[in-house]
Amino acid sequence: MCGIVGYVGKEKALPRILSGLKFLEYRGYDSAGVAYVKENKIKIVKEAGRISALEASLNKEENTYLGIGHTRWATHGVPNKINSHPHKSGKFTVVHNGIIENYMELKDMLIEKGIEFKTDTDTEVIPALLNYNYEQEKDIIKVINKTIKMLKGSFALGIICDDDLDSIYATRYDSPLIIAHQKNGYFIASDVPAILNYTNKYLLLDNLEIAKINVNNLIVFNSNLQKINKEELTFVGTSDDAMLNGYEHYMLKEIHEEAKVFKDTFNYYVLENQFKETMPNLKDYHDIHIVACGSAYYVGYIAKYLIEKYASIPVLVEVASEYRYKKNFYTKDTLVIIISQSGETADSLAALRQVKEDGIDTMAIVNVVESSIAREAKYTLYVKAGPEIAVATTKAFLAQTTLLALLTVKLSKNNELLKEFKGIDKNIEELLSRDYLKYAKEIYNHNDAFFIGRNIDYALCLEGSLKLKETSYINAVSFQAGELKHGTISLISENTPVIAINTLDSIRNKTISNIKEVKARGANVLYITNENVRDNFYNNIILIPKVADIVSPILTVIPLQLIAYEVAKLRNCDIDKPRNLAKSVTVE
Ligand code: F6R
Repeated sequence: MCGIVGYVGKEKALPRILSGLKFLEYRGYDSAGVAYVKENKIKIVKEAGRISALEASLNKEENTYLGIGHTRWATHGVPNKINSHPHKSGKFTVVHNGIIENYMELKDMLIEKGIEFKTDTDTEVIPALLNYNYEQEKDIIKVINKTIKMLKGSFALGIICDDDLDSIYATRYDSPLIIAHQKNGYFIASDVPAILNYTNKYLLLDNLEIAKINVNNLIVFNSNLQKINKEELTFVGTSDDAMLNGYEHYMLKEIHEEAKVFKDTFNYYVLENQFKETMPNLKDYHDIHIVACGSAYYVGYIAKYLIEKYASIPVLVEVASEYRYKKNFYTKDTLVIIISQSGETADSLAALRQVKEDGIDTMAIVNVVESSIAREAKYTLYVKAGPEIAVATTKAFLAQTTLLALLTVKLSKNNELLKEFKGIDKNIEELLSRDYLKYAKEIYNHNDAFFIGRNIDYALCLEGSLKLKETSYINAVSFQAGELKHGTISLISENTPVIAINTLDSIRNKTISNIKEVKARGANVLYITNENVRDNFYNNIILIPKVADIVSPILTVIPLQLIAYEVAKLRNCDIDKPRNLAKSVTVE
């Protein structure tokens, strides 16, 4: 949600800021802006729309060596030029990622003091409050420290003060912010991909720490304003990981990385024995709660079926935004697992904190290293997906599913199950090599589509229909196959696309009966299964390799992802940046 990039150094700032913002465009893409210092004055340029619109309004070769930039995902105020960042009030210019929950209260207080506001944003209150506090005490660090303690909500901030045009100030609370050093200068950024063209070394600001950065120097203060040293981290990977590398879209590129992602996750936990390293004393838990949002929640659903089947441990799966506001029942041996690609999702993070307060063991399944959820959980298991740029998750979903299947093996204490993972990477490659366009052609000109399946196949229906909805704007809905006749079947009419998933021997015939029911009512059925039967109840079939149930969802999801991709392409949708969405949802 929103991306921040700042640069101060000996090189020209604008090309660096724009290049970083382009890498962060997946975090928000409805407007963009920069503030930079030229001839001892702040210049601000903003545009509604994509970063390309901002780039067109700027002279990149401008002789400026300090600036802060922003790409926005609107929360307060429509995405127009005036509401886009940076915002300036008095002597302070600010870019902000996050939400200020008490902005109305603060705004009223400042209006009473005679301060004027120009935008509908929550952010504008930050420079206004900084400026107001600065009038009382002319010490920038102290003023930032005082101001951020008056803010409620989440924020990552890049700040410039007119009285110190040689420095960028940076701080954060519950929204990520990194600082990177390259030989000729410093960057601030919301996420590592923004700086990978220049360096893979960075440090992470902690909540309420404040950094003062100029061309030669970085000083970090804790919230008591003592100077502190920060540990330097190294990102494993290169800028290539965050580039298209010849693919038309990131979504397609990331799906095609899935065999590697599977192997990397399996090798790390099984061959390199990282389960033992990370969790030497995995307890015998009495029950498990899995808490997550969106696709990560659907991975939780898959895990529920696997853990209950193979490890006989009851599992409750909940959407994080609901879980955190309801009464939850724990035993002293409950484990709460939070699944999150970004590790920054506000609802999942809040749920994690609440569970910790209740004294319950927490485990995070996360992709982004050193993210907030990763750092705050009792146990953290990283999936090995690498940077995921497309807004719709694909490879991280597959990596999370793989890791939860491995965790199931661990919880079941039946290592024999590991044999089932052998050769799955080859199956993934084979599935990736197939053509899914012909199935997409049967779907793309409809407004509705239905996904049906039972048990673990239903969990996959949920993910398949979300992929289709978010990337192609088709109203794709999932139902448990056995539930259709209780109402939903009235929606089926001539040619309605129905994607039916049927991979489990134990309930194969039951699902077939349900498919026949929709076929009899005119549905155009795409049947996804691992065992064909000679019967005429579908229009098209995708036969996936027959493997054990514990690994089967890792394969089943691939056709669903590629069909969503092909449909979105046929409908000319903006595949990597669907409308209204952003990756890393750091607001409630
Ligand atoms: C869907 C998608 C979202 C995320 C959800 C949780 O393709 O990407 O539904 O899965 O916003 O995000 P993380 O996993 O970062 O917590």
